[in-house]
Amino acid sequence: MKRIPDHIVQQVIAQSDIVRVVGEYVRLEKRGSRWTGLCPFHTEKTPSFGVNEERGFFYCFGCKKGGDAITFIREMEGCGYVEAVERLATKAGVTISYEGEDDPEERKKAQEKDALYELYERLSGAFHHLLREDPRGSHALSYARSRCLGDDIITGFRLGYAPADRRWLSRFLESKGYSKDFLARSGLFSQNYADVSIFSDRLLFPIRDERGRTVAFGGRLLSGEGPKYINSPETAIFRKHDTLFALSDAREAMRSAAVAMVCEGYMDALAFHAAGVRYAVAPLGTSFTEGQAKLIKRYATSVVLAFDGDQAGIKATERAIGLAETQGLAVKVLRLSSGKDPAEYLEKLGPEQLKKESVSTITSDDFLLNVARDIEMASGGQAAFSYLFPFAAAMPSDIRRDAFLEAAATRLRADPASVRADYARSLQKAPTRRGPQVQTEVLQAFKGGPDAEFLAALVANPSLYPQVRASVNAQDFPDDVLKDAFIVLEERYRNEDMGSGAICQAIRNDALRAFILERVASGVYETNPERYIADGMYRLRVRALEERKRHVVARIREYDPDRDGDELSMNDLLYEKMYLDSELATIKEERNGRS
Ligand code: UTP
Ligand code: MN
Repeated sequence: MKRIPDHIVQQVIAQSDIVRVVGEYVRLEKRGSRWTGLCPFHTEKTPSFGVNEERGFFYCFGCKKGGDAITFIREMEGCGYVEAVERLATKAGVTISYEGEDDPEERKKAQEKDALYELYERLSGAFHHLLREDPRGSHALSYARSRCLGDDIITGFRLGYAPADRRWLSRFLESKGYSKDFLARSGLFSQNYADVSIFSDRLLFPIRDERGRTVAFGGRLLSGEGPKYINSPETAIFRKHDTLFALSDAREAMRSAAVAMVCEGYMDALAFHAAGVRYAVAPLGTSFTEGQAKLIKRYATSVVLAFDGDQAGIKATERAIGLAETQGLAVKVLRLSSGKDPAEYLEKLGPEQLKKESVSTITSDDFLLNVARDIEMASGGQAAFSYLFPFAAAMPSDIRRDAFLEAAATRLRADPASVRADYARSLQKAPTRRGPQVQTEVLQAFKGGPDAEFLAALVANPSLYPQVRASVNAQDFPDDVLKDAFIVLEERYRNEDMGSGAICQAIRNDALRAFILERVASGVYETNPERYIADGMYRLRVRALEERKRHVVARIREYDPDRDGDELSMNDLLYEKMYLDSELATIKEERNGRS
């Protein structure tokens, strides 16, 4: 990984004018001290998006996205951290150097990746040529056309053909000067026979990363025996769990429609694109992953699941609902009225019809309730609710969950209060579906409150932090999420990088970060911030001292000279209690004196 040293990142941020950076994408108007405009991350008619020039961050009251200039570029361009900093640096005229640039190990890794990108780029061109122009590929081309893929799709996605001769590829690449060693790591050849290509006589679907660079291939069988699809193995440039087929082609449409269509296979995604539904993507031969949901979250606020209509498709839909919900995506489900999958639908009914039907979605709630109805019919109400409860448990908000349970009660004609009671009992029993549940707990562990307000006031007024750190430390926060955030403040302080935007960025918990950004953006801490800070410090210190005092008092009460002996003599304990009492008295006096 290329890494940019912190001081360079700070320099880039310092020299970037956030109003100019955002202004390249959003029309901003100055209202008082704030710049406002229409949010680029969701559709709106009146501006709830704003930029705080002084503190260097943006925030949208509507969709709650916010952060510093780096985050803005990442979200807009869908790029990674390093690339975002690079882009900003170019605009701001800062020259970047990389950490470990002189580290030969790092340099070798970077070179290897560059060489792989170059290889895959060249190959996708060669395979595409074989499909379009070479007689060896003519049957593959006819096949693609017979599946209703037009020239625009075949060219746009650079579909290709791998010749039947399994040794063709190694000859071709060696003649271009690639070394055997390098090719062995390229993911293109058999593990056991270095000159035998894993793709032969297949229609190839180039798999591209978010930036559109080819990083792997999927290949469909055209005739004979063998697996229907073969996919490249993972390499230094390809991680299949963090890659979505067609993402680079879909991301513009995903952003403007704020929705992504997720289907099962390459052919399905291409079918949607052929029908003009350009926000379609597909996972890569595995089920939908958390990493893929996160990728989508960068562009869209909701996702339509368009998996096959069979039992496996239903299972895949159920899994994906939980994953997408946990990422905060609204989920809809598309069940096509005809054909086993979107590709077949296209072949049977044509692009216009597929495009038309692509919007007849139902909500994920309705989807689950329909399945529950079927279960009720077959096995009774109890079974139906047991099916639904884990989905309720995985929901990231109480409001969502209440509505869902309410709808379930209505649909299955049960008493809502009993349903809620059964649900609560089901939670005490089995720890259902650990994955999503753990994440839900993290999100729900935090709900505003005075300690969070205190942190938000500090983020808004970082210059007051030195005074706080003298008497408060992370252990004084009983909540782990807040403790973590306080540690972030301390880290930033030591890095001498106390911009509000940068601090927020470093806060790991999504819910807390959103809360703090919202509070800071609302400007509540602009007037008399000292008061918030003093209140917060007072509360934390009193609580910490009282906690210690409770501890000491308990030890005094349970004091046992035989066990505790001289080391923990009663005098020490008494002395400590006296000290704590006097500290508490002092800070209470100080406070009363002030107000
Ligand atoms: P499907 O079997 O549904 O294929 O697998 P498909 O997309 O409908 O293909 P067509 O329409 O018959 O040509 C869906 C996805 O699962 C992966 C591929 O990514 C495929 O697109 N898959 C399937 C494999 O990786 N290997 C296989 O053998 C089969
Ligand atoms: Mn299919």
